[in-house]
Order: sequence, then structure tokens, then C-alpha cells
Amino acid sequence: MSGKEHFDLIVRNASIIDGTRAPRYRGDIGVCSGKITQIGALDKATADTDVDASGLIAAPGFIDAHTHDDRLLLSAPDMTPKVSQGVTTVVTGNCGISLAHLPAPQHGAITPPLDLLDGDGGWFKFPSFRAYRETLEAQPAAINAACLVGHTTFRVATMDRLDRAATPAEIAKMRGMAHESLAAGAIGVSTGTAYPAAAMAPTGELIEVSRPLTEFNGLYVTHMRNEDDYVTESIEETCLIGRTLKVPVVISHHKTVGTRNHGRSVETLKLIEQRMHEQPVGLDCYPYIASSTVLRYDRIEQSSRIIITWSKPHPEFSGVDLDEVARRLQLSRAEAVEKIKPAGAIYFMLDEQDVQRILAFEETMIGSDGLPHDAKPHPRLWGTFPRVLGHYSRELQLFPLETAVYKMTGLTAKKFGLRGRGVLQEGAHADITIFDADTVLDAADFQHSTRPATGIATVIVNGAIVWRDGKPTGARPGRVLQRSA
Ligand code: ZN
Ligand code: CU
Repeated sequence: MSGKEHFDLIVRNASIIDGTRAPRYRGDIGVCSGKITQIGALDKATADTDVDASGLIAAPGFIDAHTHDDRLLLSAPDMTPKVSQGVTTVVTGNCGISLAHLPAPQHGAITPPLDLLDGDGGWFKFPSFRAYRETLEAQPAAINAACLVGHTTFRVATMDRLDRAATPAEIAKMRGMAHESLAAGAIGVSTGTAYPAAAMAPTGELIEVSRPLTEFNGLYVTHMRNEDDYVTESIEETCLIGRTLKVPVVISHHKTVGTRNHGRSVETLKLIEQRMHEQPVGLDCYPYIASSTVLRYDRIEQSSRIIITWSKPHPEFSGVDLDEVARRLQLSRAEAVEKIKPAGAIYFMLDEQDVQRILAFEETMIGSDGLPHDAKPHPRLWGTFPRVLGHYSRELQLFPLETAVYKMTGLTAKKFGLRGRGVLQEGAHADITIFDADTVLDAADFQHSTRPATGIATVIVNGAIVWRDGKPTGARPGRVLQRSA
């Protein structure tokens, strides 16, 4: 090593976990022009910016495999709920809903679950994926985005009513939207057939709308039709679509819902593993026993407890248990649900053993499924990644720290085709998260659902520091990422 080297930035004295599951090692990381140009002993080299990582871990920036951050990237570009956890890339447009491709702002009642992105409809103003992408690139966020486009959004943009299958003409129109989006850099199509807005779409509609994925080798990503009694049938439907289109599939927020399906992750993971021998399959998971989405009566009997996260007519019930809402309104639970809709809720309906089994499965990625616009959101929005590192890896020792990091970096970059991300290697993009392995932990809970996590020291995106000393720096180096298959 010559003594003359100079870098834009050097992370010094780090314990490096490189995102490949390799054991950690000591080293310095040299960054130039947004990329990692050297890893080794750089004590003779100088830099414009020095980051001391003594006693800390340096890992690839975390990739949130499952988000609904389409709007947050534009409306709150510091992305604090994510950056504070060490996340440097978000996958947007999940569960069938994306801001693009709706021709004009929506007025009146927004079709659920599109109201998870925007309850008022003013943000549905991107007539194409290109329009969304250009807006985001013109006013970048602090972190990177890899974007899916949603089949349910296409349906809302195309069909006069959603309680039926699409006609061949409507399918052709939606296929055109998928094609336009993929050509403009979307990485895949998501579906959400679990929701009424897309539940009447038969498998054939999903295949024909998603057909352009084959040409672009895009991803088929799905909130499956069913995650309770028919969860294995849904896995088979997902895999059939992937085989028919010859593209990789990702099963979103994998879980087995409802008491009588507790324990069935043994069966579902076995099935997924089998299919993985035959075709590319991915899956993600959030580290909680409670789920969250729009308020729906049919979820109630499957849940031991329900907390309201937002309500348009009754915002005062945000954070209140449904039982308490019913008591205060002197209504039955069913009547209370009707009274406070449109609304969102947290449902306690999963089993801790299933959550741990799915998290520990070799191929499971970490995705928050956080809902950034809920008045009182599920704590997964602010806590997912530190919870996996601190609670599941350090405290419960479900897997080593190197594995935990892999599930949120190298594995995710591989499954989503994000080349040069998710690893700390020479030549990779300089997305780096520096954290304290002894203290990293989620602080958000169901009471204090937006409390930032502890132990995340410094977060670097494309070579620029975006998080330091417990706050955002204001830098906005985020990019829209392409999929390289
Ligand atoms: Zn979902
Ligand atoms: Cu989701």
C-alpha cells in the first residue's frame, strides 16, 4: 500500500460483515465516487471524510424487501423510519398497489387497499411508471428504491367495477401498463388477490396482465390469494404463474394465519423448498406475530386482539383496541367496524413459533411491510431490522449475526437482481450501515409505535452519509435501481 492514497470517505477500524454470510473480519473501507474501491488496512491513506467504526459492525446497507414507501420517498425524502434502522434501499409497490399507473388524482372514496398509500387520492397523479420515476429522480430521496407496479392499481385505472374478472380488452390494456412500466425500469409486477379489489381476478388474468415480465425477466411478487386455510394452494398458484411466465416469484410476508393454521409453516416451508428445486422462488417475512392492513370484518374472528391504526371518519380511535371502540360506541364489533371504516388495523393472528421458523428458513428475506401513512402504525415500520438483529439474533440466538445481515442484504440483492448492492466488496456501491452489535434493538412497540431503534450509528448511501448522531443529515443520494437478471 502506498502512503499517498486518498479517498472520498474511509470507514476505519470496522468489524466487517460483508453480506455473504462469511464470518466478520477487521478492516477499513475506502470509498470513491459512490463506490467501495478498497477494503483492507488503510491507516496510511487519507480521506475527505473519516468515519470511525471502532467497536462497531460495518455491514452492507439493509434492503427492505417489502415496503409501501412509494409516496414516502416523495413526501418525506429523509426516509427517517427506514434510515434510522439502517435501511438504504426499499422495494416499493407491493401487495398489488403502486402509486403509478393511475392517470389522474382519485376523488371520493379511495378503493382499499389503495388507501394505504393515500387516503385522499391526491398522490395518485402518475399516469405512467415513467412519470413516477422521473419525479423521484428529479427530487431524490435519502435512499434507493427498486419499484414494482401493482395489478390492483391497474385494475382501478382500467375497470368500471372490481367484483369481476377483467375482460380480454381490459387485460390487454393492463398488459400495456405492465409493459410500459417494465420498459421504464420497474423491476416487476405485484399482485394482491387477498383483497376484494383483486380477489375476482382468476389465475389467467394474473398471468396475462403479467405476461411482459417474460420479455423483461421481471419479478412476479405477490400478497397471495390466501394465507390461512388455503395457503398451500396459494403457494401452488404463485409457483404456477412463475413457471408459466418463466420468471422468478417472491411470496410476500409469508405467514400462516389463524389459530387452526398455526404450525403449518412446517408444511408451507417444505413445499416452498421443493418448488425452489424446480424454479426461482423467494419469500420475505416481518418479525412480529401481528399483521396490519385495512380494517376488514373477515379478519376479526382470526385475531385474538385488534388495534385500530387509522380511521377516516373517527381519527380519535387511532391506537385504540377494537373492543374498546365497540364499548365506547355501544355497538357490536361488527357494527363498530362498519361505523369507523375506511380504517386500518393491527391483527394479532400469527404464532410465534411460525414466525421464528419462517425467519430462520435459509431463503427468507427480511421485509418490513411498514405502513408509513397510518396515524398509529404497526411498529414494524420503525423496528423490523433492528428487531431481527437485536431480538431474534442476539437475544434469542435464532441465527448468527452474519446470517441476520445476509437476510437483509446479500440474499435480498440476489433475489431482486440488484447488482452491486447488498455486499461489502471492492467495486460494490457504497451503501454501508454501521451499528453496534451489543445494543442494536427495536424500540417501537404497539404503544410507542414510532420510537426510533437504538444502535444504528451511521448510514451511508452511494458514498454519502445520510444518518449520523441519531438524525438524518439531509443528504439525498438515493437512486432508482434497475434489476439486472
Ligand atoms: Zn400484503
Ligand atoms: Cu404489503
